[in-house]
Amino acid sequence: MRAVDVIAKKRDGAVLSADEIKWLIDGYVAGDIPDYQMSAFAMAVYFRSMTTREIADLTMAMVHSGDTLDLGAIPGVKVDKHSTGGVGDKVTLILAPLVASFGVPVAKMSGRGLGHTGGTIDKLESIPGFQVELSEEQFIEQVQEIGLSVIGQSEKLVPADKLLYALRDVTATVDTIPLIASSIMSKKIAAGADAILLDVTVGNGAFMKTIEDARQLARTMVDLGNAVGRKTMAVITDMSQPLGLAIGNRNEITEAVQVLSGKPSILRDYIAELAQMMLRLAGLKKTLPEILDHLDNGQALAKFEAMTRAQGGDSTHWLEPLKVAHQVEVKAPQAGVITQMEAMGIGLLAMKLGAGRAIKADSIDFEAGINLAHKVGDEVVKGEVLATLYSNREITDSDVQEFLGNLQIGPSAEPIQEILEVIE
Ligand code: URA
Repeated sequence: MRAVDVIAKKRDGAVLSADEIKWLIDGYVAGDIPDYQMSAFAMAVYFRSMTTREIADLTMAMVHSGDTLDLGAIPGVKVDKHSTGGVGDKVTLILAPLVASFGVPVAKMSGRGLGHTGGTIDKLESIPGFQVELSEEQFIEQVQEIGLSVIGQSEKLVPADKLLYALRDVTATVDTIPLIASSIMSKKIAAGADAILLDVTVGNGAFMKTIEDARQLARTMVDLGNAVGRKTMAVITDMSQPLGLAIGNRNEITEAVQVLSGKPSILRDYIAELAQMMLRLAGLKKTLPEILDHLDNGQALAKFEAMTRAQGGDSTHWLEPLKVAHQVEVKAPQAGVITQMEAMGIGLLAMKLGAGRAIKADSIDFEAGINLAHKVGDEVVKGEVLATLYSNREITDSDVQEFLGNLQIGPSAEPIQEILEVIE
């Protein structure tokens, strides 16, 4: 087989065989196929797409490019959850302990943030001492003991995705459904859970900008998961505005802990609904009041505390306000109702304040970030605080203008629903 022939076949819109796809992925991981040929292949997929069968073959070729995790030693149905990314997305921090508090084991690998999107692993690392790198044995042992562990993606799983994603990132071939679906599902399948809840975000802060694209990605991934014997369902959720009120790292831990402590929050009902779906995937039928009760009676928080302790974290300071050299309140320039709050622009501003990475090698300032005081649909008066910006570098008027540039105030707006659709 020659890589050039496989690339030409895809370029001309033909359907590749399972052998051709596997040969390409194996050759790329072995270093026999160079980056320039793999980039040409990714671009051919971008323009010609793939059939469902080709995507499944690509996914499984990627799964078999590295180790797979066997969670068989943990009793019960193991349920995983994955979000396609967003701004202020602290769902895993709340949902994983909430689900675990019902006795459903959660063994989860999460990612780091890049660009406007945050990453759960960075947020957990803002807890002093919290270890996100555990050996496979430690990870499984912890889930056996306390029912919950969230760690960074193991380097040994799906090496093909690590190589291919880095290449796609610099060749404008990230946002194509066959490559996104195979990238996400290969990691979920290799991570060993029996069931998977996929959170497909949609809006200007997400990979998928339209509901139609989100639906297609969700459908593709749900079918892929079910085809390989993992019970899979997806929710399409809004990412046109940031999720919740905190955007950053330690401030997102604070918001998550507040929700886990039963404090009033716009995230309560949303996360309870996601928990209900994860529990259903594990075979447990629970009502929303039963689930909310675990936020109110401390059981979900106890799980999060147990995980933090087990992974070496110090929870003493997680409710304290952010400690930074500079903080600036952004005030409403006029009265009215917030009609738009662009997640992408606000995520990028949080990144520039120090809360995220422009490139992978950047380090993060865990104390930097943005705390919103309002969301779309809220009425504000002129001069009212809309948000507070936190940074250890000087905050300029242009930062404040950048925040305001991502916001629109008009005569009226409906609050935005978080869950838009469920795909099973
Ligand atoms: N997240 C992933 O893990 N892979 C993609 O290709 C896109 C989002």
